[in-house]
Amino acid sequence: MGIFSPIEHLLTDIYVKVFAYLYMLAQSVLAFVFAPTPPPPSARPKKGAPRVAIIGAGLTGVSAASHCVGHGFDVQIFEARPKKEGLGGIWSRVNSTSALQIHSIMFRFHPSVKWDSAYPTQAQIKQQIIEVWKQYDLERRTAFNTPVKSLKKNKDGKWVINNDESKYGTFDGIVAAVGSCGDPKMPTLPHQDRFKGQVFHSSNLDGKDAKGKRVVVIGGGASAIEALEYAVNSGAARIDVLSRSDKWIIPRNVVVNVLLASNIFGQEISLSWVPEWLLRKFFYRDLSDISPAGKGIFTDTPMVNSELFDQIRAGKARWLRGDIICVENEGIRFNHRSQGVPKGGPGHEILVEADIIVMATGFSRPSLSFLPDKVFQPPYNPPSWYLQVFPPQYPSICANNSTYVNAIGTVGNYHIGIYTRLLLMFLVDPLSRPTEFWMKRWIDMTRFMKRFAPTGAFDFFTYAELIYWFLFVVAINPFRWKWAAFVLFGIGRGLPMTVVAGEDQLRAMGGGGGGESQGEKNEGEKSQRGGKSEVSK
Ligand SMILES: Cc1cc2nc3c(=O)[nH]c(=O)nc-3n(C[C@H](O)[C@H](O)[C@H](O)COP(=O)(O)OP(=O)(O)OC[C@H]3O[C@@H](n4cnc5c(N)ncnc54)[C@H](O)[C@@H]3O)c2cc1C
Ligand SMILES: NC(=O)c1ccc[n+]([C@@H]2O[C@H](COP(=O)([O-])OP(=O)(O)OC[C@H]3O[C@@H](n4cnc5c(N)ncnc54)[C@H](OP(=O)(O)O)[C@@H]3O)[C@@H](O)[C@H]2O)c1
Repeated sequence: MGIFSPIEHLLTDIYVKVFAYLYMLAQSVLAFVFAPTPPPPSARPKKGAPRVAIIGAGLTGVSAASHCVGHGFDVQIFEARPKKEGLGGIWSRVNSTSALQIHSIMFRFHPSVKWDSAYPTQAQIKQQIIEVWKQYDLERRTAFNTPVKSLKKNKDGKWVINNDESKYGTFDGIVAAVGSCGDPKMPTLPHQDRFKGQVFHSSNLDGKDAKGKRVVVIGGGASAIEALEYAVNSGAARIDVLSRSDKWIIPRNVVVNVLLASNIFGQEISLSWVPEWLLRKFFYRDLSDISPAGKGIFTDTPMVNSELFDQIRAGKARWLRGDIICVENEGIRFNHRSQGVPKGGPGHEILVEADIIVMATGFSRPSLSFLPDKVFQPPYNPPSWYLQVFPPQYPSICANNSTYVNAIGTVGNYHIGIYTRLLLMFLVDPLSRPTEFWMKRWIDMTRFMKRFAPTGAFDFFTYAELIYWFLFVVAINPFRWKWAAFVLFGIGRGLPMTVVAGEDQLRAMGGGGGGESQGEKNEGEKSQRGGKSEVSK
């Protein structure tokens, strides 16, 4: 054993290095083929080039903006927070010990991203966002400390931000990229003032000393797992996670993650018991008591972690299901429930002692209330929008990643570019725009298809479902066929623009108008055909 150990070590090292090298190589190829060419540093937007306002400078906003400028559009990013906390979005405001739970191959928020590890840390993720921001010369196009509070159309049908046309100009399209994690949620627990220890939010653990202390984590989401890991690594004496509801935990295994994200129905189906049974049998094993009872895996965002169970088995931590009764001097009085007993149901009352309470209670959702009131009218209110991101009344608004509720997949992947390019297509080619009527029918159809789902039709999705949506949306309209390669891969934008120009000529010869009939016409918007010819090819 002693002889083989150094050899095993060497072989593992070689194996990891070879894979890391191949991973980097593959990413360089992806960047070469799919990343849009950044504008030269001195480039000024062409006169009349369509302008897009991007709201939020997190990875979605930065990625969307880079696609816009890379395809010849002008952009202005509005970020509510100062640069230090705003650039990089939520990844600028979490612990340095945070890291991706899902494999980075499923977190390629931009084609030029180059991950040098499978599970990058907060600093690496932030760095990649900043690099894209710099590479696409977005610095001079970003206004920090500028929360967007309103969005209105002027008489020419152009969007005006914060009622200030003179300051920011007007916009043809909007990408709302406000994310889903806003300010930390810090609910006050009953009699919290009695507690003699310290209370922190899970996103604020940097520099906190947990060595030799009893740490209680409130919440049962991904942040609770991160807080548990933080406490283990800090040498806490005892760690208890108090979770009032159950979520699925899936292994950190890229094949398993991709397979689970490949459910084209995006909902629980009659065969969903198979992955659930496999997970209980081979992943949870002796800890299957922690797994959710009666809650399907395709209903709620699962947590991705493989080490948690090892920590519990090693006696370093406990994961307790139940309800907080109140806080006491020494800790938390807790009603410990068994598997399957609902929230507030009967259980065993215990005192969980604590020196530190970590509130892993999540984040409040950033508001989209700056959008026109119309888009919030049920039954077509978010997330029940076209493809979940386009409010049916306005194909010029793309709420990229901002209406997301639950999913298997990730928030930061190629879909950011696909949604952005769909918006660009709608902006430059009115014939490709769906009308309000058809957008609503699409939403109705999705509801019908998912009528037996335990969640709302748009409250849960999987990647395969997204791909199916995109293919269906592009394939259904002949005027969009020419755009397919551009929308899906960001390549070949010269061809559709040439065809669009040809279509324009034909229409001019026939004396037809055409474009005005598509989407947003009731807002008095002028045809954007004038703008499209300025888009760089
Ligand atoms: C610790 C942690 C780990 C995570 N890990 C993963 C993971 O492994 N996989 C995954 O898929 N997701 C993960 N997430 C979810 C995370 O939300 C996404 O990874 C991603 O950061 C979302 O990026 P975004 O740009 O859409 O939103 P954000 O990063 O939240 O950025 C939105 C930006 O918009 C700004 N903004 C909001 N409202 C306005 C306004 N009205 N005007 C102007 N600006 C505004 C905000 O200030 C913010 O900077 C994690 C989240 C946390 C907290
Ligand atoms: N590395 C990663 O991948 C990673 C790390 C952290 C976060 N994230 C992502 O960030 C988002 C937020 O995750 P999160 O874990 O911070 O939040 P979350 O998923 O919203 O979970 C919050 C947890 O706190 C519980 N909770 C809330 N208020 C409570 C109260 N008053 N008393 C007791 N329990 C309470 C919730 O219970 P109920 O469910 O019953 O409300 C839930 O279990 C998610 O999208 C997540 O995937 C990812």
